[in-house]
Order: sequence, then structure tokens, then C-alpha cells
Amino acid sequence: MQAQLKKILEEAKVQLDNALDQAQTEEIRVKFLGKKGELTKILRGMGHLSPEDRKETGLMVNRVKSQIEEMLEDKFEAVKKAARSAQFKLEKVDVTEPGKPFNLGVKHPLTITMEEISKVFMNMGFSIVEGPEVETVFNNFDALNEGPNHPSRDMTDTFYISEDILLRTQTSPVQVRTLMKQKPPIKIISPGRCFRCDTPDATHSPMFHQIEGLVVDEGITMAELRGTLDSFVKQLFGPETRTKFRPHHFPFTEPSAEVDVSCFKCGGKGCRVCKGSGWIEILGCGMVHPNVLKVGNLDTEKYTGFAFGMGVERVAMLKYGVDDIRLFYENDMRFINQFK
Ligand code: DAH
Repeated sequence: MQAQLKKILEEAKVQLDNALDQAQTEEIRVKFLGKKGELTKILRGMGHLSPEDRKETGLMVNRVKSQIEEMLEDKFEAVKKAARSAQFKLEKVDVTEPGKPFNLGVKHPLTITMEEISKVFMNMGFSIVEGPEVETVFNNFDALNEGPNHPSRDMTDTFYISEDILLRTQTSPVQVRTLMKQKPPIKIISPGRCFRCDTPDATHSPMFHQIEGLVVDEGITMAELRGTLDSFVKQLFGPETRTKFRPHHFPFTEPSAEVDVSCFKCGGKGCRVCKGSGWIEILGCGMVHPNVLKVGNLDTEKYTGFAFGMGVERVAMLKYGVDDIRLFYENDMRFINQFK
């Protein structure tokens, strides 16, 4: 019996030495100490022994059992430790490794220009509203006093989706939407995309951006229009910039004007940017036509207003000296990265 127990003990030791992980160690525990294990088997077979032999064998078995238990405990401890350090090695962070640079994106020059223009108007108390790019013919034309025979309603200029729906050709329909839902005082700008069936060339693109402005209240006159736009161009192009209001025609304003600014490159002497004239056309504007105010059910004896609209691409091209509008849409990073 003693020899048998010794063999079991040795066997357990060899097997534990070879065990690699917690699962294998557990298997060994079950094999030797479990309900059907080797030692239990011996204890069960003690029935036929004399009381003295039983006591002695019992003592020997228990001694071996606690020896194996001790070995198991050590082994469990060891494999757990090994597993932990293996994981540490796997998850090790090398704090000396140099950082991998993350290339920061840059804003698109049109975004920069749009934000710059918006900021100037926001500082003057304007709110920003946006309108949808897919518009009704009513909002884009009829409500803006552009009669059915107006040339811009011709199929060649407008992307029609159906008879009544189109891609807006200007941001001016936001005036209509605002007038229909807001009572004066109104003081808004609306930046956004516009679409026209133009063949792309250096100065035309079928998709482009405009910023629309609308101010409506009691007692608004052309003096407010001039003052606002004068202040705007001074903030955008520099305090020495002068403005010139040239009579023009837009269906939704009366009177209407185009605004030229003194060339910010040459100061008005004449250069390549202003094509020698000293002046650069920058936007269209005017006093809101009574027919447009009526869309908002306003009393046109009481309320007046002014509106303006400008092309963002044109301003960006002038400001940055870009000579081909198509550069804005190609997303060539060598171009975009210049505006960091
Ligand atoms: N919508 C005009 C265009 O696309 C620009 C414009 C001119 C807007 C005068 C206005 C305005 O609000 O008063 O050419």
C-alpha cells in the first residue's frame, strides 16, 4: 500500500511538473483527488481492512492527499502567474515609441469664405437660416416676382425635376420662405448651394454657392442698405475699401443696384484683378419689391426692406486670386492645402 501511495504521489508530481496551464492542472486535480480519483478509490477499498490497518492506511492516504493538495496549490499559483505575465507582455505599451502623426484636415476655401462673410453679418445682428436645394417653382420664381416669361425660367438655365419642382437657381427663395413664416423685424442671411444648367468653364459651374440677405422692418430705407453693405465690404476687404452702387434690374427688388468695390489689390488705380477699371463687381441688391413683401401678407405701406445676394465663388476667387472656378470642385489636395 505504501508503495502504491508513493507511486501515486510521484505520478502526481511528474504530471504537475508537465502541466502547462490552469486547465491541465485542474484535470490533474480531478484525476487524483476527485470523486473518482486515485486516492478516493483507495479510501473506498479500505472496507475489508482490519480497524488498525484502516486507521493506518487512512492516515497515509490523508498525508499523500495533503501533499498533493499542496503541490496543486503551488501549481495553480504558478500557472496563474505565468498567464498574467504572458498577458502583460502581450498588452505591453511602449511609451518610448514615437507618435504617429495624424494629418489634420483643412477647411475648403469656399467654406472659409462663407464663414468669413457669415461672421461679418452675424456681428451686425443677422441670423443665419437655411433653405432646401430642391425648391418649388413658386418659391424660386413666382413669389420673387419673376413672371412666367422671365429668361431665367427657360429650360436652358434651370434644372427642372418636374413641372413644379426644380433645383434652386439662387438662394433668394429663402426670402420667400422667411417672409411666409416670420414677422418683421427680419434680419437674416442664407448661405447655400445653387444650380444652373451652365457648361463648366473658368467662371461657370452648374453648382455654385450664394449668400442671400434680407432685412425687413418698419422704416427701412436705402440708407440702411448702403450703410450695411458699405460696412460689410470694409470688414471683408479692408477699411479703405470704397463702394459704388450702380443701377441695375432684379425682378424682386425696386430699385435695384449692383455694388462694386474699389479694387483691394491696386486700391483703384487699375490692375489685372480689376481688369484695369479700379472697381470689382461684388453683389446684387435692392429694396424688396412690394410684390415680394405681399407674399408674407405684410402691409407694404408700413413695412419696407432690402435684400442682397452674392456669389461665394466669385468672392473667394477675388480674395485668393484663383483664376479658374473648377479648382474649387476638383479637391486636389495640392490646391486645398494652400488655404491652411
Ligand atoms: N438672386 C440674384 C442672382 O442670383 C442675386 C440677388 C440680387 C439677390 C439682388 C438679391 C438681390 O436678394 O436683392 O443673381
